[in-house]
Amino acid sequence: MLSAKIFYSHSPNIMTFKRTHTCGELSTDNIGEEITLNGWVGPRRDLGGVIFIDLRDRYGITQVVFTEEDDTLHAKAEELRAEYVIGIKGKVIERGEGNINPNLPTGEIEIEATELVIYSRAETPPFEIKDDIPTNEEVRLRYRYLDLRRPEVQRRMMLRSKVYQSIRSYYHGHEFAEVETPVLMRSTPEGARDYLVPSRVNAGKFFALPQSPQTYKQLLMVSGYDRYFQIVKCFRDEDLRADRQPEFTQLDVEMSFVDEEDIFSAHEDMMKKLFKETVGADVETPFPRMTYEEAMNTYGSDKPDTRFGLEFADFSEIVRDAEFKVFSGTVKNGGSVVGITVPGRGDMGRGAIDRLTDRVKNETGAGGLIYIKMQEGGPLCSVAKFLTDEIVDQMVAEAGAKEGDLVLILAGPNPEVLKQLGQLRLMMGKEFDLIDTDKFNFLWVTEFPLLEWDEENRRYHAMHHPFTSPKEEDMDLIDTDPAAVKARAYDLVLNGNEIGGGSIRIHDQQVQRKMFELLGVGEQEAEEKFGFLLDAFKYGAPPHGGIAFGIDRIVMLLTGADSLRDVIAFPKNQKAQSLMDNSPDTVDEHQLDELHISIKRNIKEQLK
Ligand code: AMO
Repeated sequence: MLSAKIFYSHSPNIMTFKRTHTCGELSTDNIGEEITLNGWVGPRRDLGGVIFIDLRDRYGITQVVFTEEDDTLHAKAEELRAEYVIGIKGKVIERGEGNINPNLPTGEIEIEATELVIYSRAETPPFEIKDDIPTNEEVRLRYRYLDLRRPEVQRRMMLRSKVYQSIRSYYHGHEFAEVETPVLMRSTPEGARDYLVPSRVNAGKFFALPQSPQTYKQLLMVSGYDRYFQIVKCFRDEDLRADRQPEFTQLDVEMSFVDEEDIFSAHEDMMKKLFKETVGADVETPFPRMTYEEAMNTYGSDKPDTRFGLEFADFSEIVRDAEFKVFSGTVKNGGSVVGITVPGRGDMGRGAIDRLTDRVKNETGAGGLIYIKMQEGGPLCSVAKFLTDEIVDQMVAEAGAKEGDLVLILAGPNPEVLKQLGQLRLMMGKEFDLIDTDKFNFLWVTEFPLLEWDEENRRYHAMHHPFTSPKEEDMDLIDTDPAAVKARAYDLVLNGNEIGGGSIRIHDQQVQRKMFELLGVGEQEAEEKFGFLLDAFKYGAPPHGGIAFGIDRIVMLLTGADSLRDVIAFPKNQKAQSLMDNSPDTVDEHQLDELHISIKRNIKEQLK
């Protein structure tokens, strides 16, 4: 039964039936009851004078029957079309033997209607409201309010709602304060481009929308709110992919007086509860951990998918002095020769290997693909004539390859070659169904480098952000070998997706100054950009650290969706546009004037 908490508006024209049940609720237990349902009309079927409709709401579908007994009612039912919104009163009856639908929870009953009210009529929708429709995504996004009616999409949205509930109850149950931070703010240093908001009352000045609430959450620690969390919208103007939206939701957390262990264990508990409560999955804790270096060397990725093997073998030392210059030259120039062993694929034909080589070159940028087929008579290497049998045998031993296997090898500079092999590994995992899709494999990736070298601008960037603390034991390398300094930064990876990232922060002003110096941020610039934070740190900053999770990514993985767009109510497309309300859009000259903004002439021309 619906709870009495659901209220209905009163229309002067149409009586709204007060529903007694939802469309997903009735069963043989209710046979004989007089009930009232409201919902949307699905397909209508006329069978020898009897009209059947599927009545749908977000809880489910119930079949309604209009017999010929009542002429007026029957005539009204004939008017019904897909997506009309109606109310019906009627009696729950058992379906005839041959009409039972075992796929529906309500499939054993139907409603014999006695009253019908049409609340609103609908035009023929651009696509049918059901799962598995062949409609392209652009159309579905243009009519997102209809797409959101589809049961599959509604299931995902309801699961998302449960995610919020579970997350909130975890943090509230552990003394975390939920605090809202501003949406109009100063730019934060997360590394993407900002979405800017012009100020009317401060001519020529702009707010930035938060890329994350990073600075505010650190300020909250200075203010003594030692456990903070927030479910918060973040905005980043960056290249879009299936796992990135310009506007996305973070679960943002910060804690004082903690180290990595406290953050890991709190969030392992949170995830365990979340996965149990939303999809009933039992997640094993503690989660495994791997350093950034190990992840790169073993999987060629800082977010490895550990649901399958194909770990890397490093052949560099074996081939260092080989006559084959592609191998020895690469190694002597500081590069690597690395490979993976694909079990049981040693019989891959010439054509298939050629196609794979093209794909590897196009998709990963690798120069070529070398292989060893583990045939019955012994290993067959694609560059055998340039290598001694001894070298090939050593490579086979290093790879742990057995008869019937296929060893795929790449040579190139570091770290590019590792990333390329990482992509090849994923390709093979997918192609040969090596990935156990029923698993939830969590992994903490730790000890990220503090800095990342930007060759184009010849300067360092902070790999995480400039408030991330270096590892204490690496502090003496800061002046001599900054690239070797590791950070107290960590990511949480789930099935090859980065679902969260964070760090222990710098709370010492000297270290913070040093960090800005390394990043080439002068004192004046640091003062201008982050003066408020540096000032705050002068007044008693506790040691602190935190993490932020991508809620959209978590829901995507929980629901098995392919894209973030599938789990966001009103997402943007690949061009960061909302097709439904046609935003972003041009605005009136008058509005621009008020904001002291003018559009460049060439852009104006393009917009005409
Ligand atoms: P970071 O930039 O790693 O860290 O972001 C945290 C998590 O947010 C998700 N995420 C995104 N999801 C969808 N679309 C995007 N464009 C997008 N960008 C990021 C990812 C990511 O792991 N302030 C720091 C956190 C901290 O240090 O505490 C931060 O924002 O799942």
